[in-house]
Amino acid sequence: MRVRISPNSALLQQSIAGHIPTAPTPAICPWCLTRSQYPRSRQSRRHFSSSQQSSSAWAAAVSKIQNTVADILPSSRPATGNITIDPLKIVAKELKFLNKNIRQLLGSGHPVLATVAKYYTQSEGKHVRPLLVLLMSRATAFAAKQPRYDAQNLSPSSIDTPISSPTILYDNNPDQTSSEPPSPLTSASNETQYAFPNDPSILPSQRRLAEITELIHTASLLHDDVIDHSSTRRSSPSANTTFGNKMAVLAGDFMLGRASVALARLRDPEVIELLATVIANLVEGEFMQLKNTASDETSPKWSEQTITYYLQKTYLKSASLISKSCRAAALLGQCTPSVVEAAYQYGKNLGLAFQLVDDMLDYTISGSELGKPAGADLELGLATAPLLFAWRDRPELGILVGRKFAAEGDVQRAREIVLQSDGLEQTRALAQEYADKAISSISVFPPGDAKDGLEEMCVKVMKRRK
Ligand code: FPP
Ligand code: MG
Repeated sequence: MRVRISPNSALLQQSIAGHIPTAPTPAICPWCLTRSQYPRSRQSRRHFSSSQQSSSAWAAAVSKIQNTVADILPSSRPATGNITIDPLKIVAKELKFLNKNIRQLLGSGHPVLATVAKYYTQSEGKHVRPLLVLLMSRATAFAAKQPRYDAQNLSPSSIDTPISSPTILYDNNPDQTSSEPPSPLTSASNETQYAFPNDPSILPSQRRLAEITELIHTASLLHDDVIDHSSTRRSSPSANTTFGNKMAVLAGDFMLGRASVALARLRDPEVIELLATVIANLVEGEFMQLKNTASDETSPKWSEQTITYYLQKTYLKSASLISKSCRAAALLGQCTPSVVEAAYQYGKNLGLAFQLVDDMLDYTISGSELGKPAGADLELGLATAPLLFAWRDRPELGILVGRKFAAEGDVQRAREIVLQSDGLEQTRALAQEYADKAISSISVFPPGDAKDGLEEMCVKVMKRRK
């Protein structure tokens, strides 16, 4: 079953008003991004005046979310359906070289390690994160600039220039004599040259950042497939199925190591801090998901805290990489703080919308279309947005949540209840709200194809079926 709902429908507005945690804080001006008397849109004002503010528990949940997945910008502009630009085409030449460059970063003298590490680069992934970094880089190329103290204008070769001496980086056991040749096991392959088209609006450091985001994301998938016991990924056998859990985990670790080296060579401490935080955030989010609920009760009751916990987990696991890498792209581009903040807000809101839609598709799309098993979340014991919204009106879900849908017939029962409820509509409504906020946040950018592409990404995220 696929639920369709117009962004302007009464049901959607009602859902948004009822479920998006908001607080009566001052609006933020999209031009200066500071709290001011900037008037809210009528839609936003409606959110802020609902009776939900009467509950102090709600208010606590609200303020917590505001610090994490904050809905900072007013939703003054709805996602438009009439943009025809294809975001992929705008940076297609850059993306063409992405896989090749990533595979180069994953070279190792150990042939099996290199094979496992490069395994997920063989299948064509969606490359959403690098695509967003490249679009953000291009979209902010002509935005307001403010040189930063730690910025270095990197040439294509300097992003590959080691900081430490190669004799240290590619050393053997330090106790061995220096006459020994450096170990091939630790060196990155340099068989091929770094390849890129000559798009002057995208800096070499931003292009490398795009590659780093894909490395971090792919490393997390290698680990995730082990945790989830996934047998397939992108319609092919998963790395853990093909090589076993141990090699899949180690390949993920190796990828993170290579991503960290590449990150260091950008020579930008703020960007390094952001992306290192992302790695920690991914693990924190995955840990929150392992636990799944804030309490260990056997028959938990629905509360606002349930949604707060879920959104916090979702930010960490899914939106953090997109938001912080969009921010990093703007930093590398020497943008002003307000442009940097707008890039971050865009990534945060789009990332949340992306994951909400993902959670919805798990209920609505077949496994063959998804390229991975459908309905996997319930099988894994996970209560995601559609179920959490359904649970509010169907308290009997609590007992199933408490035992992680592990008893005979639990998964089927939970699925039926979700499909009978308005949980999917509410999930879609919330995703739409975040997508609209993502679009609003980049209104400060100068007009251009990449800005259109970023807006279109929000439309595509809402329409996607895989
Ligand atoms: C996919 O989730 C997984 C993630 C978005 C992140 C997983 C993070 C970790 C395993 C922590 C370790 C992180 C690193 C960087 C090594 P999903 O299971 O909901 O999606 P799927 O259906 O595509 O598997
Ligand atoms: Mg998984």
